[in-house]
Amino acid sequence: MGMSRRQFLQVCGLGAAGVIGAGALVGCGGSGDAPAAGSSPATEGSKGGKPVIFYNRQPSNSTTGELDMATLKFNENTYYVGFDADQGGELEGQMIVDYIKAHADEIDRNGDGVIGYVLAIGDVGHNDSIARTRGCRKALGTAVEKDGKIVSDAAGNNADGKSEVVKDGEIEVDGKKFTVRELASQEMKNSTGATWDATTAGDAITNWASSFGDQIDIIVSNNDGMGMSMFNKWSKENKVPTFGYDANSDAVAAIAEGYAGTVSQNPAVQAYLTLRLIRNVLDGVDIETGIGTKDDAGNVIAAEDFKYSEEDRSFYAMNLAVTAENADKFADATAVYESTQSQLDEKTSPKKKVWLSIYNSGDNFLGSTYQPLLEKYDDLLNLEVEYVKGDGQSESTITNRLADPSAYDAFAINMVKTDNGASYTSLLA
Ligand code: BGC
Repeated sequence: MGMSRRQFLQVCGLGAAGVIGAGALVGCGGSGDAPAAGSSPATEGSKGGKPVIFYNRQPSNSTTGELDMATLKFNENTYYVGFDADQGGELEGQMIVDYIKAHADEIDRNGDGVIGYVLAIGDVGHNDSIARTRGCRKALGTAVEKDGKIVSDAAGNNADGKSEVVKDGEIEVDGKKFTVRELASQEMKNSTGATWDATTAGDAITNWASSFGDQIDIIVSNNDGMGMSMFNKWSKENKVPTFGYDANSDAVAAIAEGYAGTVSQNPAVQAYLTLRLIRNVLDGVDIETGIGTKDDAGNVIAAEDFKYSEEDRSFYAMNLAVTAENADKFADATAVYESTQSQLDEKTSPKKKVWLSIYNSGDNFLGSTYQPLLEKYDDLLNLEVEYVKGDGQSESTITNRLADPSAYDAFAINMVKTDNGASYTSLLA
């Protein structure tokens, strides 16, 4: 499963123990235009500025994918929490290839020698969505490269296989060769601009089914919200294997009814990390307390379940494939992580106030999996969290509700667009 944390730390040239002491972060900069660290009255224990944790949407350029380091280094206590998007995309792709190999006898529904798939893209500018599109195309042999990177644009209609953003791939099973074609793909954006839109995906599969019919052998989706919408609309009845991402509880339950597989991005680890980093900064303890090293209550995360990149200022959870073979272990997507269930002592970790945003109140993953987990962890970590939800379209639906940053000890931010870090840091400055 990808690189272990230890290997990662070595590659990144971090200390053998991989412990990031608070001192190590001092002087990590801030870009020319970022406000000076600690320029606002810092909460006691949070030297270097109040904790600012971006999560789920990594501050980055939505066209090039380049990380927005000015935002990620806003102050010494700024971090990103997400998951290893490339490892997850590759896992999703591999899961589909494994499925094809195991079902070679029945996969090609019309027997034309072409395994046709359709792809629901969440948001063409979202780092996670891009990684999933790339991982699937790479594994299926349909990827086209430009400037050394796999093109992640939507192909639109590619019935004739002549698209410039994908090419026909080939898979051989037991001496039998199949062509693999991305018949169609599109971004799932609704008319008002919300992305990862499940209803749009349901409409898309209706259109695709009427144009391609039994040429569609597989459905690939960048998340379960869209995947389940297509499954319920068409693929369940037509018995066409459908793959998603997130391991939301409804998707995992649907595996028993023919949903082919999904990927867990380890949301319990992410939700814990989001709030735990805040806690550690506010308590003035080593940033990896209760993460890489056990805290006094016994909380700790196993080394293989996360990694930290000092360079990216980012903590990443590792992904796991979920198929018929192991679905029972993932039945409850909102179950807390096994070794992070102990309540912190209020004497050493007193109550603090956190402002936390969610880009879209209608997002399946954030609403049905991530937030319930955050709500479990905020209690364990003695944090009083105010949950602020946007409409998924305009950043101001969220930023308007951050009128008085001085009323909070810390901030956890999920942006509408990955480019918009400065809309928040300018308010926090
Ligand atoms: C999740 C999606 C979600 C998106 C929102 C992704 O990491 O997999 O389901 O819609 O984040 O930002």
